[in-house]
Amino acid sequence: MTRLTIRRPDDWHLHLRDGALLGAVINDSARHFGRAIIMPNLVPPVITGDDAVAYRDRILDCVDPNYDFTPLMTLYLTETTKADDVTSAVKAGIIYAVKLYPAGATTNSASGVRDLDKVLPVLETMADLGLPLCVHGEVADPQVDIFDREAVFIQTVLDPLRRRIPKLRIVLEHVTTSDGVDYVRTGGANIAATITTHHLFINRNHILAGGIRPHYYCLPVAKRESHRRALIAAATSGDSSFFLGTDSAPHLDSAKLTSCGCAGIYTSPNTLSCLAHVFDVEDALHHLEGFTSVHGPKFYCLPVNKAQITLVKKIEPVIYPQSRNTDEGPVTIFDCGTPLYWAVEV
Ligand code: DOR
Ligand code: ZN
Repeated sequence: MTRLTIRRPDDWHLHLRDGALLGAVINDSARHFGRAIIMPNLVPPVITGDDAVAYRDRILDCVDPNYDFTPLMTLYLTETTKADDVTSAVKAGIIYAVKLYPAGATTNSASGVRDLDKVLPVLETMADLGLPLCVHGEVADPQVDIFDREAVFIQTVLDPLRRRIPKLRIVLEHVTTSDGVDYVRTGGANIAATITTHHLFINRNHILAGGIRPHYYCLPVAKRESHRRALIAAATSGDSSFFLGTDSAPHLDSAKLTSCGCAGIYTSPNTLSCLAHVFDVEDALHHLEGFTSVHGPKFYCLPVNKAQITLVKKIEPVIYPQSRNTDEGPVTIFDCGTPLYWAVEV
């Protein structure tokens, strides 16, 4: 197969930042994606419905008018979030999910949740509303080995929470382990998982291959090869519990190439080429549309996009720029480590 037409994809987990960086990266998503769930971990975070409206307007101001792109806003769950505020933001059509960051688990998570009991009333209200909770599924305890933090979170936080509020609809974001894949696959209709592009390509060896590779550092950190294989199997299986959330997370190179570099990989520009490559290698191109364009809307109870895109397999590799320039300096684009032949037809 050398041509593939699919419904326009959506990105169910995206960091767009703010200010100059927002302006520099937004159209790399808007070019190919119809909608995206926008992560609220700005500084300060997007906490109220008013914050979300203001951020949505700043995003839309930067979208190239040639592109049809809808940001789906989320709120950042804090221990002082009020159930009534969440309800009114949903009823006003402002938000599509709430994001749970365990405090300290990742970038700009300091205002996240330390004590889950404090947010139970909000989560119960969300269950009644059918509003999905997007979860950064890692414990933040420094005593827990960084490669175990997802599996420990599932056992000690996620599963007890789901037993307590079975109706709560949860997206386990950027799943990175076979433990997570198995949990979601067998977890029933109220749980799903997003899978990133980069976790389909890199395992933990890539981060330390002949030296430290800061552009492969993200959270959750990539795991061993058997876990990467489990992610590929889940993504390409056609199982509607799994869908694309790129977690494209641009940071200025100056913030990554330093003694304490930020976590995050910028994949928006070449994500669809990368995904088509993976699905092609796995002989699963017939499942690509489900993963990028159908399973996500189904879980979020939204219609699929009407527009389509066509992917074309070229004879020569498609060359992407190494970085995106911003007023504040370059942002490195994900190097998936293998030549890419698929490209979105323009
Ligand atoms: O690698 C990551 N980058 N993981 C996250 O959870 C946050 C994100 C960011 O905001 O940079
Ligand atoms: Zn993220």
